[in-house]
Amino acid sequence: MGSMSAVVVAVLCAFAMHAGLLVTTAQLDPTFYDDTCPDLYDTVFDVISNASLTDPRIGASLLRLHFHDCFVQGCDASVLLNSTDTIDSEQGAIGNINSIRGLDVVNDIKTAVEDSCPGTVSCADILAIAAEVGSVLGGGPSWDVLLGRRDSLNANLTLANQSLPSPFFTLDLLKASFAAQGLNTTDLVTLSGAHTFGRARCSVFNNRLSNFNNTGNPDPTLNTTYLAILSGICPQNATVVNITNLDLTTPDQFDNNYYSNLQQLNGLLQSDQELFSTPGADTVDLVNSFSSDQSVFFDNFIASIIKMGNIGVLTGTDGEIRTQCNFVNSENSGLLLAGVASNDSKEKLVAQSK
Ligand code: HEM
Repeated sequence: MGSMSAVVVAVLCAFAMHAGLLVTTAQLDPTFYDDTCPDLYDTVFDVISNASLTDPRIGASLLRLHFHDCFVQGCDASVLLNSTDTIDSEQGAIGNINSIRGLDVVNDIKTAVEDSCPGTVSCADILAIAAEVGSVLGGGPSWDVLLGRRDSLNANLTLANQSLPSPFFTLDLLKASFAAQGLNTTDLVTLSGAHTFGRARCSVFNNRLSNFNNTGNPDPTLNTTYLAILSGICPQNATVVNITNLDLTTPDQFDNNYYSNLQQLNGLLQSDQELFSTPGADTVDLVNSFSSDQSVFFDNFIASIIKMGNIGVLTGTDGEIRTQCNFVNSENSGLLLAGVASNDSKEKLVAQSK
C-alpha cells in the first residue's frame, strides 16, 4: 500500500471510529422533530393549555411526571406503562400511587400528536416537552427541550420504589438519591424549587405536625403559624384525603417564593425544609441566593432540568416509539387488530387473555 492510500485508510478509520463514537454517545437535539413533526411543540402546548383551564394544577403534575420518569431507569416513559402480564407498572410505587396525575392528559397529547405525525414522537419526549410547558404556563422559565428519546420496552416497579426520593428523607438521603442519578447538590436545591407550585396530600407532611421523630413535639423547623394552618387542614383521624399548596404564598405561580418560604420555615415537606434548616449545610447558601434573585434560580433550573432530562435516555434504535403511551407496541398491536380503542377495554382484553 502506497503512503498516500495508507493516509486515506487512516483518515477513513478515524472517521468511522468518530462516527461510531457519535452513535454510541448519541446526544439529544432540540431540532430532532423539525422535519418530521414541525408543529409538535404547538400541539403539546395547546392540549395542556386547554386542560389547565379546568385543572390549574396540571402543569405542576406534568412537570412531576417527567421527574418520576427520569429517576427510574432514565427518561424513557417507563412510568406511563400500565400493568399487564409482563409489566409491573411503576404507577404502583410508593411515590406514585394515588399521587401522580396527568396520565390522561399525556394520552390526549399523544392522540393529537399521532394524528399529525403518526409513529414519530416518543412518549418520553412528550413528557419532557410537557414539563417545559408546565413551567411556562405557571410563569416559569422556558427552554429549548432536547429531543430524540425513545420509549422503553419495560418498567421497573422495584427500582421505582428504590429511586424516587421520599418526603421524609434527611438532607443526606436526598443528596444520595440525586447523586445516584448523576445529579449534584445544586441540582437538588434547584429542582426542589419545582415545589413552587402544585399540591400535596396530608399524608406526606403530617409526620411534622405532632410527635415528629418520636419527640412528642411538632417539627421544630416548622413555623408555628404555618403549623396551626396545616393542623387545621389535616385533622388527626381525618376520613378524607385533604391536600394543600406546596407553596404557601403563590400556589400556582412558578417563581422563587419557594425559597423565601424556606427562609421563613414555611416549607411544606420535611425534604423541602431540610435544604434550609439543616445546621451548617452547603444548601443554605443556594437557598439564600435563589431567594434573593429569581433569575439566578431560573437559570439554574434550566440547566438542572436539562441535565435531568438526559438521564439514561434511549436513542437511535434502542427501545421503540410507542403508539400508545400506556402499552409497549408488541402488546398493543394484537389488541389493535382486535379493533380495541380505549384503554379500559384493552385492560379487559389483557385480563381475559391471562
Ligand atoms: C427532592 C426530592 C423530592 C421529594 C422528596 C418530592 C416529594 C414530593 C411529594 C411527596 C409531593 C406531593 C405528592 C402527593 O401528595 O401526592 C410532590 C409534589 C410535587 N413535586 Fe416533588 N419531590 C421531590 C423533587 C421534585 C422534583 C425534582 C420535581 C420536578 C423537577 C418535583 C415536582 C413536584 C411537583 C410539581 C409537585 C406537585 C404535583 C401536583 O400538584 O400534582 N419534585 N413532591
